[in-house]
Amino acid sequence: MQFHMPVKLYFGPGEIQNLTRILAQDLKANVPILVTDKGIAASGILEIVTQMLPGIRVFDTIEANPKSDTINEIARELRQIKPDLVIGLGGGSPLDAGKALALLATNDGPIEAFEGREKYIHDPLPFLAIPTTCGTGSEVTWVSVITDVTRKFKMSIKGPKLYPTVSIVDPDLIKTLPKSIIASTGLDALTHAVEAYLSKPATLVTDTNALAAVQLILGSVEDAFFDIEKNSRAREKLMYGSTIAGFAFGNSDVTAVHCISESIGALYDVPHGVANSIFLPHVLAYNLPACVEKFATLSRKTGFIAKDDAMAAQLFISHIADLSKRLGIPVFKDLNIGRDQFETIANMSFLNNSNGSNPRPLEAKDYLKILENAFK
Ligand SMILES: [Fe+2]
Repeated sequence: MQFHMPVKLYFGPGEIQNLTRILAQDLKANVPILVTDKGIAASGILEIVTQMLPGIRVFDTIEANPKSDTINEIARELRQIKPDLVIGLGGGSPLDAGKALALLATNDGPIEAFEGREKYIHDPLPFLAIPTTCGTGSEVTWVSVITDVTRKFKMSIKGPKLYPTVSIVDPDLIKTLPKSIIASTGLDALTHAVEAYLSKPATLVTDTNALAAVQLILGSVEDAFFDIEKNSRAREKLMYGSTIAGFAFGNSDVTAVHCISESIGALYDVPHGVANSIFLPHVLAYNLPACVEKFATLSRKTGFIAKDDAMAAQLFISHIADLSKRLGIPVFKDLNIGRDQFETIANMSFLNNSNGSNPRPLEAKDYLKILENAFK
């Protein structure tokens, strides 16, 4: 069994105020650059950070499901600037983009050339991750997911040198998150935890983190949804749950929910958290026969009491489905994806690298069934 987590993690409310000290102490950068998106710029969070980094060059053009074109364009500029640190500020998209840019700053070629594991020749630049949503986990993982716009495919670019060097996880940064983003990113984090726990490569260490994450997230996501601004305890629990869910899936894997959501994200640009939230209960229902005992553990850890494992498992799946409704998660039909597209989505999901980690084997026809069920 292995567990790899080389990230130096600063966690706590107000931790962002220590940015200058952390930069001087841990990163010693002379030419840092910052990668973010327009939403973070408009929210005022970018200003909080740049006030502590006067004169820093900011790239704020990262979009949802970050695109290879955007990454390659910024990389051309980076190679002129010659930075010595990349800072990623935002949700999963700016963090994954930051990792990709840290790699391209020291390696020639487009990002498409680095798809897969350890394809870089030179070590990527040090990377500082500052998450501002409660879902990504990217702040503690070695993977960057970038959409190849030509193939309409989500590439995984990964390797031990792609872990952030330092992450600052400050739950106060999610204080102003809109309700819909709390819902979708909170359920993305829950998906990470549940999938890590059920995945084939799960270990004792990933299980411990995954179960704790499930308890933290389910124990806080609704409170955060209803009053994120005043409920500091819910913010902390949700952010902490999201981060340790990253420990879990980063060292085990995700399963079929992510196989579908990554396909839908690449093909139709559906936000990652929304796609995961829609398919989580449907994939759980498919997986139930393969791991009733594990579902029962998830259920009992969540606080359900049932006469047997089958009943406990059922209660857990129903709870997730009901929770999605209460948090206003859209249903599959709301995405306006026609039935004629299901075969393409099913085939693409089947080819996803994480398909083999699903606890119950799936072929393209099984994905098709899950899509049909979700569409009803
Ligand atoms: Fe995810």
